[in-house]
Amino acid sequence: MKEVKRDQLLAELRLGLGASAVLSGSDLPERNRTDWSFLPYADPMAVVRPGSTEEVAKALRLCHGAGVSVTPQGGLTGLCGGARPLDGGIALSLERMHGIEAIDPVGMTMTVRAGTPLEVIQKAADDAGLLFSLDLGARGSCAIGGNLSTNAGGNRVIRYGMAKDLVLGLEAVTVDGTVISMMNRMIKNNAGYDLKQLFLGSEGTLGVITRAVLRLHPKPGCVQAALCVVTGYDQVLALLAGARRNLGPLLSAFEVMWADYWTLYADHVPGARPPVSLDAGSHVVLIEMQGLDEAIDGGRFSTWLETLFDDGTVVDGVVSRSLADLQAFWTTRDAAAEFANPDVAGPHVSFDVGLPVALMDEFASRSSTALSQTLGCRSVHYGHVGDGNLHVVAWVKGMTPQPLSAISDIVYGIVKELDGTVSAEHGIGTLKKPYLGYSRSPVEIDLMRRLKSCMDPRGLLNPGKVFD
Ligand code: FAD
Ligand code: LAC
Ligand code: ZN
Repeated sequence: MKEVKRDQLLAELRLGLGASAVLSGSDLPERNRTDWSFLPYADPMAVVRPGSTEEVAKALRLCHGAGVSVTPQGGLTGLCGGARPLDGGIALSLERMHGIEAIDPVGMTMTVRAGTPLEVIQKAADDAGLLFSLDLGARGSCAIGGNLSTNAGGNRVIRYGMAKDLVLGLEAVTVDGTVISMMNRMIKNNAGYDLKQLFLGSEGTLGVITRAVLRLHPKPGCVQAALCVVTGYDQVLALLAGARRNLGPLLSAFEVMWADYWTLYADHVPGARPPVSLDAGSHVVLIEMQGLDEAIDGGRFSTWLETLFDDGTVVDGVVSRSLADLQAFWTTRDAAAEFANPDVAGPHVSFDVGLPVALMDEFASRSSTALSQTLGCRSVHYGHVGDGNLHVVAWVKGMTPQPLSAISDIVYGIVKELDGTVSAEHGIGTLKKPYLGYSRSPVEIDLMRRLKSCMDPRGLLNPGKVFD
């Protein structure tokens, strides 16, 4: 873009939104140049930080008029490059648009601005005696707009569903600055197309989410968890079937850490205090129950677990007796966030594949053998097994950048053979674009492209993400 046009756009943005909302040159924050994907820094023209929906609309209108690309940004915790801006484009950060507008305890809804961190929303719901069920390791940094744009999954999908199941209404702005208000607060509303779905999981390519009406649930009367060590994947599957049968709808998480994960965590994560020891075990399973009444449901949980210890399904395990126990158990799972630390794994490639639950262990051993034999690559496995979602963290020690396509070709090749999906929860971003066709048919991808060109004919909103 010619310098004079660039300067004109920046001047118009500053005039419309205020000088402090437009950061360029040496004021441009480094963090807005990329996300958590280990992709190198981009060189955007500016970071624009609107303070209201009207300012988002104004910024989009001006950029559209100037033919400049815009990449929406939330908390920048995305793992596949979706929020990384384009060189010469605008990064549109929603970070100033935070805060809770209203909580309706009767309708069980919360109205929020898109830049509100997930953890703030969780706490506000809790303070109101309710639950916002979305939960993931990045809770302190990610923003609800990013969660909705990626249709985030996380730890409690088995009970409450993914982000799109937790949103009733939405406000979004399209690339030309048109504000679409769909702030529905009812569970049922079949009046024509449900247009908000277009913006959920489309990774900022069809519009910028500015506000949302979230669905809340009753706060659980009691929460219990257990860490169980088993000696084979058949036992993991037996535990899952048993948890579903014995806990029914109270089952709120079923997370599995393979031995490779547990060893990396226990031996290398600074400050790790593993509550169970793996010894000859093959997997550690974190099971959580959110019950109604401690006196009734607490007994149900521990009685069921005792039978598993007695019949040998579980060889070592602990059941929570306090909030501190509960937190200590979840710390073992949240420790995945520490893997980027050079003393643990360092720069790595992170996968969120989806697979039939019965085939996950076969996948893990085939992929880890192939990665190690072909590339000398280490890998660890963990994930939301109850949802059919496995994470792989893979890295070649000391290599920067990581051999991304060689690692991805191996992992996704096996996913394709096993009829899985290349993304269960993080989205496609830029990293998984070459593999979208492994999980979506040409007809599906063609319809995605037609939707994109209908809503963004000039291809200016987060271009180069999901597909080219
Ligand atoms: P960003 O990274 O800023 O953006 C993500 C995408 O959304 C980009 O394409 C961006 O353009 C778009 N976007 C952001 N805000 C908006 C908006 N307002 N309007 C339109 N588009 C927008 N993900 C899971 O699903 N489950 C997990 O369990 C999970 N655990 C994680 C644990 C850790 C430690 C980390 C680092 C990440 C984890 N993630 C997980 C991935 C990530 O946190 C989620 O994808 C999260 O939803 C991204 O939110 P964000 O605000 O950081 O979005
Ligand atoms: C997790 C992320 C990586 O579940 O999705 O830890
Ligand atoms: Zn996950």
